Amino acid sequence: SDAELDARIRAAKATLGDRAVVLGHFYQRDEVIEYADFVGDSFQLANAALTRPDAEAIIFCGVHFMAETADILSRPDQAVILPNLAAGCSMADMADIDSVTECWEQLEELYGTEPDADGRVPVIPVTYMNSSAALKGFCGDHGGIVCTSSNAATVLEWAFERGQRVLFFPDQHLGRNTAKAMGVPLEKMPMWNPRKDLGGNDEQTLQDSRVILWHGFCSVHKRFNVGQIDKARAENPGVQVIVHPECPMEVVDAADSAGSTDFIKKAIAAATEPATFAIGTEINMVNRLAAEYPQHTIFCLDPVICPCSTMYRIHPGYLAWVLEALVRGEVLNRITVDDEVAGPARVALERMLAARP
Ligand code: 13P
Ligand code: SF4
Repeated sequence: SDAELDARIRAAKATLGDRAVVLGHFYQRDEVIEYADFVGDSFQLANAALTRPDAEAIIFCGVHFMAETADILSRPDQAVILPNLAAGCSMADMADIDSVTECWEQLEELYGTEPDADGRVPVIPVTYMNSSAALKGFCGDHGGIVCTSSNAATVLEWAFERGQRVLFFPDQHLGRNTAKAMGVPLEKMPMWNPRKDLGGNDEQTLQDSRVILWHGFCSVHKRFNVGQIDKARAENPGVQVIVHPECPMEVVDAADSAGSTDFIKKAIAAATEPATFAIGTEINMVNRLAAEYPQHTIFCLDPVICPCSTMYRIHPGYLAWVLEALVRGEVLNRITVDDEVAGPARVALERMLAARP
């Protein structure tokens, strides 16, 4: 029963004390979040992993790429545990190292590898945090960097200082929305299709490009549309519409503002007068915000429940299972990144941490 699970998780946590730290992403269900020692967006949780070098185990209630990142950034003897190994991210799976390497080779053939007169290399690879460790390693090895939705503009500025253009993967929407807000015209953002020569683009388009986008997307955020925003505004005069930058461009353009999960939370926390917010992001987070800020009316733009189905695979039962194993001295579901990938991936992550404004 739920009460029994609750008692087991609390007992295991009490026995483990500071030996274990539980991290929870904003999209986790409430029944998991209640046991988290840190709750945050993917950037904050990457930092949280760094702030607990004393803990023997980091139990990551999030998805696979987040646990990999925690393993890369944490001490080698710390175990990072993903309570359910099936908690992946469909967007992260949309770019693999072979396709990105092939793309890179075609771009090198096209642009060469020599810097221009200002010392800027032809292409800087930028990977969204929502990607495999192998892709972060690729960026580390090729002068590139990682970004999250909370620092994508800062990271793109970093990249434009060092490169004539950026190859951005896997999320086309975060890449497009961020570059557009920085003044990059849409015609300078061709999309790369790994199944076609030159990604399906002509040479001139690629020569003129500033950002080459990958074709990935988030299945949760692509559900949002402008019709939902129009409806929310028609039914709620004065509503503030805030969406995540993984939403399609026309949704971000129609919204009042767009930003990471932490940005959304802070925007609501900053409202001093009762207000109405229509939010374009994952439902568990929206419902939690509605409960935390009862003085406001907060609802999700999508009337059909839209959880991140992979985040949802972390169930309290799995949390109890891995915690109780730790009490017995057993490490289950450990996520480890091989040294040859972790080294360069750490370089790309550290560039991101250093690029923070
Ligand atoms: P944040 O970086 O805003 O936490 O988002 C992570 C994510 O997976 C959004 O879909
Ligand atoms: Fe991946 Fe989308 Fe889920 Fe985020 S919300 S973890 S991008 S599938």
